[in-house]
Amino acid sequence: MKKVRKAVYPAAGLGTRFLPATKSIPKEMLPLVDKPLIQYVIEEAIESSIEQIILVTGRGKQTIEDHFDISFELEQALQERGKHETLAQLRKVYEHVKLSYVRQRQALGLGHAVLVSRDMVGDEPFAVMLPDDIIDAETPCLKQMMEVYETYQSPVIGVAEIDGPDISKFGVVSVEQIDEKVYKIKDMVEKPPYEQAPSNLAIIGRYILTPDLFPVLESTGRGTGGEIQLTDAMRQLLKSKPFYACKFEGRRHDGGDKLGFLIATVELALKRRDLGPPLRSYLKSLKL
Ligand code: UTP
Repeated sequence: MKKVRKAVYPAAGLGTRFLPATKSIPKEMLPLVDKPLIQYVIEEAIESSIEQIILVTGRGKQTIEDHFDISFELEQALQERGKHETLAQLRKVYEHVKLSYVRQRQALGLGHAVLVSRDMVGDEPFAVMLPDDIIDAETPCLKQMMEVYETYQSPVIGVAEIDGPDISKFGVVSVEQIDEKVYKIKDMVEKPPYEQAPSNLAIIGRYILTPDLFPVLESTGRGTGGEIQLTDAMRQLLKSKPFYACKFEGRRHDGGDKLGFLIATVELALKRRDLGPPLRSYLKSLKL
């Protein structure tokens, strides 16, 4: 069985939910406390033993490349000032993983963004990680999913329970439970109306996929919202291949949504040793 060595990060979207902030700053670069959203998700991949990251970017996303490159003057200044810890933080990503970039010329949808990574992925299984889904977990979410992949040797999709009408913002699976956290997928649908959602299990931005998805993506037309949907292609492949869902352990934050971003900022800051105590006493003083 081939190992999952590569992870694709679709980061070419327009980030319209976060305008005007995302007009000239990529959504993926918005900082949660003091680190860009995308860095949290890249660190999750590194902790899950991913060796190569393929970033799908587009116009106006250059700061992502700059962020993960060497910044010679800055690093030299930190070295001279003896700020070794900050320096190690800066080098954390590029020292531990190979980064490659490919452009999606038009934001035609998540499925299309994955398709443009085809040549870089080649003929091996790969992960897809959405850089605005932050998953705060003891065991990294992708690592939990890799264990499922190793057992079943078929695609695995990360899912979370979403109760109420919010389910219609997601892809939703119908399933048969086969283990405590693992389900066999019977069907899936992108953004169903609330009343028609087949379950409360929503597809979250973590996938382990196989290269036979690429030819299917190639022939997938535009679906919901006029975009080429990853869910539609997976649904097609599901006819000839088993797919599994992994209900991962961890807290998921939607960093691409204003409220989700605020909640994530507060919760992650509260967990920090330097910021947690003063932030906690400030929040208590608010007398809400
Ligand atoms: P989203 O729908 O959350 O991102 O797509 P968006 O389109 O940038 O944001 P809104 O909804 O307009 O606010 C999930 C991920 O897929 C990427 C996005 O960058 C995001 O990380 N994506 C989406 C692409 O790379 N290309 C696309 O054509 C669409």
